[in-house]
Amino acid sequence: MPKRQRVIIDTDPGHDDAVAILLALACEELEVLGLTAVAGNVPLHLTEKNARIICELAERTDVPVFAGCEKPMKRALVTAEEVHGKSGLDGPELWEPSMELQKTHAVDFIIETIAASPENSVVLCPIGPLTNIATAFERKPEIISRIQEIVLMGGAYFQVGNVTPAAEFNIYVDPDAAQIVFRSGAPITVLPLDVTHKVMTTPRRLRAFRDLGSRVGHVVAELTGFYERFDLNKYGMEGAPLHDPCTIAYLVRPELFSGRHINVEIETESELTRGMTVADWWGVTSRKPNANFIGDADAVRFYSFITEKLAIY
Ligand code: BDR
Ligand code: CA
Repeated sequence: MPKRQRVIIDTDPGHDDAVAILLALACEELEVLGLTAVAGNVPLHLTEKNARIICELAERTDVPVFAGCEKPMKRALVTAEEVHGKSGLDGPELWEPSMELQKTHAVDFIIETIAASPENSVVLCPIGPLTNIATAFERKPEIISRIQEIVLMGGAYFQVGNVTPAAEFNIYVDPDAAQIVFRSGAPITVLPLDVTHKVMTTPRRLRAFRDLGSRVGHVVAELTGFYERFDLNKYGMEGAPLHDPCTIAYLVRPELFSGRHINVEIETESELTRGMTVADWWGVTSRKPNANFIGDADAVRFYSFITEKLAIY
């Protein structure tokens, strides 16, 4: 078997984060070195707790969970209880986790892991606001050139925004952090709303999760079903975009996705467009490309991939 990709998942669970983590833990192609929680969809004390619940659900309490930054670098925290409920994982019946939270701060874990690993051997997979990652970069810039790749969910070009008319949630919550990451020089792949809105849930796709007949299959169907109601009401969409699992699918099956290597800058100042990912999709500026910006995915194969992988539970 080819070498497993070593991954740190930086996350704010979150329904789609939960599915992404379960998927990652099911992929033999990946070695999940740890989950680093960040404040985002709900406050930090809930995101770190939810990360531990997911590890227990997957029976993977060997995967360490770290708590990171409580709020964005320069701003007050904006959360998304209207999407994910008060707990961040409303819908299925969940429990108080008994798995322990690590004592090390998530930012220290990120720095120490990259510093102690061979060059180009750690992939960062941020699926929440970029506060932990940018804080690590500010504190220890030497780690940046050692990172293999950053594969993140965030931003939008054609789909513009989901939390304001101009911005996607993860970038909007901490645009200053996003700016640091996009200007860092690290190789970045972005899974924006442009692609996540092409991988929508359908009753048939949810049934396939439920038909797995396992506890994980049931919880994934419940989580996705709960989370769907928001997009049904908001956009009149037929289902919900499964945003965060796109990062894991991209890591394991990049051939399901296509995009362009372009320049992406982050708007941090304007009240009107704060958090906008200004993506030069058409190459109309001379700004240097800094990101592989994904625009399309094979939705049918994406859902088959997730369902097949989740079948290991
Ligand atoms: C992103 O925002 C969060 O609500 C989701 O978990 C996802 O990471 C989508 O805009
Ligand atoms: Ca998320």
